[in-house]
Amino acid sequence: MTLSSKMNDGRRTTQAHGKAFQDKSKPKDIRSSNIQAGKAVCDAVRTSLGPRGMDKMIQASNGEVTITNDGATILNEMNVIHPAAKMLVELSKAQDSEAGDGTTSVVVIAGALLEAAERLLLKGIHPTLISDAFQKAALKAVEILSWSMAIPVDLSDTESLIKASATSLNSKVVFQQSGLLAPLAVDAVLKITEPGKEQATDLKDIKIIKQLGGTVEDTELIEGLVFTQKSCNINGPKRIEKVKIGLIQFCISPPKTDMDHNVVVSDYSAMDRVLKEERAYILNIVKQIKKSGCNVLLVQKSILRDAISDLAIHFLDKIKVMVIKDIEREDIPFVCKTLGCRPIASIDHFTADNLVSAEMCEEVQTGASKFVKITGIQNPGRTVTVVVRGSNKLVLEEAERSLHDALCVIRCLVKQQAMIAGGGAPEIELALKLSAYAQTLGGVDAYCINAFASALEIIPSTLAENAGLNPIATVTELRNRHEKGEVTAGINVRKGMITNILEENVVQPLLVSTSCITLASETVRSILKIDDIVNTMQ
Ligand SMILES: Nc1ncnc2c1ncn2[C@@H]1O[C@H](COP(=O)(O)OP(=O)(O)OP(=O)(O)O)[C@@H](O)[C@H]1O
Ligand SMILES: [Mg+2]
Repeated sequence: MTLSSKMNDGRRTTQAHGKAFQDKSKPKDIRSSNIQAGKAVCDAVRTSLGPRGMDKMIQASNGEVTITNDGATILNEMNVIHPAAKMLVELSKAQDSEAGDGTTSVVVIAGALLEAAERLLLKGIHPTLISDAFQKAALKAVEILSWSMAIPVDLSDTESLIKASATSLNSKVVFQQSGLLAPLAVDAVLKITEPGKEQATDLKDIKIIKQLGGTVEDTELIEGLVFTQKSCNINGPKRIEKVKIGLIQFCISPPKTDMDHNVVVSDYSAMDRVLKEERAYILNIVKQIKKSGCNVLLVQKSILRDAISDLAIHFLDKIKVMVIKDIEREDIPFVCKTLGCRPIASIDHFTADNLVSAEMCEEVQTGASKFVKITGIQNPGRTVTVVVRGSNKLVLEEAERSLHDALCVIRCLVKQQAMIAGGGAPEIELALKLSAYAQTLGGVDAYCINAFASALEIIPSTLAENAGLNPIATVTELRNRHEKGEVTAGINVRKGMITNILEENVVQPLLVSTSCITLASETVRSILKIDDIVNTMQ
């Protein structure tokens, strides 16, 4: 692809390593090679921007195929070699963790800024001056977006929140199901948000479980706890009402010594004794469990030995205790938070007051697999579980990634309660207002900020291009409409014309756009400041 051909430059310049002090053109070459590499990365994801953007099929070296529209995923899977190109991959990841959405836009904007910087460098402007001007422009851009475009949104206004999450789903494979997924994402994030502590909202409190089988339409939000494994009982209960749950971290199996050991049993009576001991040991634990009144036992996975032996399961079957084993160590905090309990570390503490009550625990069949669902927890924590369903692995994984974007969009709105119109409206408005700002300044700054302003037009122009419209005509009309004061005029990709994009319900969180511009300009500035690549590899 173009990426590799453009990268040859980079290799040529690094080969000239020994001549660093004589070669005056070296910094220029390095800079230009970095810019080319960055632009190549941008070109690779540009076509996937917007609701009419294309998806990418990525084939990994192990033969695994991924179909996605998510910028961060595309770049993450791509085998990028050039160090400057890697910076753009990191940029996309940064946007993913900061805002969650806008991972394609951020790279596209960075690419356009690099191109603008390249032209400014050719004019003989010093990279530091360009970098400073870009910083000024980025700060001003954030100010403009926050003050003249942002629409405050209230968290009780679920309709607006749904619109924002539906916009982020517009460009995904699963957009047909946005009617289901958008309200679901809003519901999930609002459930984990504690009033007054919006900043602490953590998406880790939403557990997403992928289940193959059914269609994306069958995706559901469950208030309670879901385990992907089925219960390990053989003849035990599969559905219990009025449950008492105990979460244990100890094993119900014969103890093992720390050292490797062999026991030689020479006669049958000795063998009987060994078996009897084991039986008595396990029976003792099971009796204690029965005494506490527990009827659902959650067992943490043990790395040393089987956490629960067959004999123990047999006894627990008899006393009608449902057992769910192999709960991973990293899932324990989520389980504890959901149930509002603490894990029990030894049998001595397995008492009734350490158990948690819930209304129902049942094993449910979905498609080809089964899972266990606990609902009606007495003192539930602020967590939810979403079971995403899909008929095949590719759709299922993309559905999960899309849902992640939708959840992130709502989290952004919870953290910063403001949104702006989408469809290229913010970028074109910025382009106009930044040029006006540039006129108030003079000299090189004004020139560079103007270049920054026109670079932002890449978003509307790409949106138009991907939707099959004429990019130049569309962007010109869009600019005219904004000049007339229509701040919310945007590209209506469905009708193929410029309309008030708010009427189309295309809105996005302010945080996504501001972080896009801040992060992109930061990366471009650091690329500009690099004048050498020091290779320590032999
Ligand atoms: N119905 C629509 N009409 C016009 N523009 C839209 C519409 N829906 C979304 N957009 C615009 O599409 C852009 C987002 O596209 P997309 O979701 O493909 O990329 P991203 O959000 O930057 O990256 P990613 O979703 O991969 O993290 C935003 O600028 C948004 O305003
Ligand atoms: Mg998006």
